[in-house]
Amino acid sequence: MAMVHLAVASRIALALLAVVAGQEVDPEDRGNGLCWYNSILAECDRSFHRCCVEADPDCWRGIWAIAELCCHRLTDQHQQCFDDIEERVESKLQSLSILLARAEAAGLQEMVEGLVQNSVAYQVMLAQPLAVWAWACSVPDSPLIWSRNCDCCEPAEDYCQDSSLRDEQQIWAEFTRCCFPVYSRKTFHPVDDLLQASISSDLEMLRPRRESIWTDGPHLTWDLGDGRYAKGCIISVHEDGTVSSCPESHACHDFDCSYLRAVLLALRVIQSINPLPALDFVLNAGDETVENTLPEAPVFTRTGTLWTATLALPFEWQLHPAQCQRRLKEGMLAVERLRWEDRKAVLIWRGTHSNLWVEDCRAALAAKAEEMMERCVSLPPGQVRQPVWNFSTWLQLPRGRLVWLSRFVPFIDAKFVEASVSSQMPRMEKSLEEFLWDEELIGSRIAGEVFGQYKYQIAMEGNSATDRLSWQLFMGSVVLIPGKAWQVMSPLNMLQPWVHFVPVSYDLSDLVDRLLWLMSHDAEAKAIAQNGMAFAHRRGHSASA
Ligand SMILES: *[C@@H]1O[C@H](CO)[C@@H](O)[C@H](O)[C@H]1NC(C)=O
Repeated sequence: MAMVHLAVASRIALALLAVVAGQEVDPEDRGNGLCWYNSILAECDRSFHRCCVEADPDCWRGIWAIAELCCHRLTDQHQQCFDDIEERVESKLQSLSILLARAEAAGLQEMVEGLVQNSVAYQVMLAQPLAVWAWACSVPDSPLIWSRNCDCCEPAEDYCQDSSLRDEQQIWAEFTRCCFPVYSRKTFHPVDDLLQASISSDLEMLRPRRESIWTDGPHLTWDLGDGRYAKGCIISVHEDGTVSSCPESHACHDFDCSYLRAVLLALRVIQSINPLPALDFVLNAGDETVENTLPEAPVFTRTGTLWTATLALPFEWQLHPAQCQRRLKEGMLAVERLRWEDRKAVLIWRGTHSNLWVEDCRAALAAKAEEMMERCVSLPPGQVRQPVWNFSTWLQLPRGRLVWLSRFVPFIDAKFVEASVSSQMPRMEKSLEEFLWDEELIGSRIAGEVFGQYKYQIAMEGNSATDRLSWQLFMGSVVLIPGKAWQVMSPLNMLQPWVHFVPVSYDLSDLVDRLLWLMSHDAEAKAIAQNGMAFAHRRGHSASA
């Protein structure tokens, strides 16, 4: 193991030296070769030189591959994994062609069609090395990674259903060995100073004590409303590298414990690449705001305000390799070839009315005074924010204000999406809903790619921090971010106003001014959009790549 890391480190160091010294890089060393032949990257004049040496930010526009993946050479281990995957695809193609010949001879037309379809799918994969790798890594037990040959790939031969063929240990080992080249490299790298500083400032207020974590942690309770509650769940990393957690019945009362599972999955990846020292921490597996907790027993959670002693972890879709890749890829592929100049100078937003309401919250005051902002998002223990959407509350809620603005401002196109109004949780009073329909402020969902046709997007809080921010930044639009009440993951704290995004007041009182400025400063706007995208590619990417 150590040898491999050393080799990787010295190789990277050499590559860096070459760039720093302004020398032409060794023509043999073109980073990750998979990126530069036959792949989406090779189209549109993307070359190693342009993307990695000249570091042209446009190079990464609208594609899901990132510099971290493409500008570094693969380790021998990952190269070997890729070769194995490719070999399995080839062997599958071969067995498909034998089956095809037989089916044709027997005149089984339906079967022939199915087999042809399958063959084409595998041929396409062979032509797209990065895509086949990403696909193989999209689930831990993809047979493209673990099966000796590809008999068990889709369509699987009958005997592949036999569970004795599946060795869970081996499946897991192969998955982590093959699928996280960027994470593997980074985890053995010295820590980035800026990130370190951001993490330290996030942790400043906490004074963790092991006894409190153990004694108080399990007693922490968060009311999620409707009889559901989450309890503090202790997760322990042991000396021998294994991980254990509280039972699901403790962590999640009357709701699905999938977040706890996603966290454990992520820990498993971490442990199999570069294990953490022994430690214990408390997790809140619910997805509602947490009220203040003990600084001595800080809580990891997916939502938390700036005033709670909690630590933001990635959202579920960001922790799960498959979900994460899919979401980001959708966003990034959607904007392929959408030039800035061709986009509409309009702010686009679609979303649900997921904001929760606190009786004393006054949005306009919250924009000016931190105490009011705190009151708008957090309540004393025992009280929960309510889903109240009626004529006296809706303009105190950030999403309500945004949608109402779009009624009067031609360059703001913000609507609630239809399905969410009729079916989902926060109830909306009938008369308000009818009013919104009359005013055309409820519309149908729009596809991911449509967002890329607009120059401006806004990261609007819902009932917690907006998780959309992490893919909005990839889309090549300027992202406007309202005054924050919510914690975000440490890397996102490194976003700088006017460099990577445009700040907006919490009550949106300056939103129109900001947009007018952006429209009259299009070159600056484009630069901010590009900086945001470059940031996302460098720091905001948690995919399994
Ligand atoms: C909206 O709901 C709140 C909380 O239930 C209530 O106090 C208020 O009177 C309601 N307003 C209207 C116009 O119904």
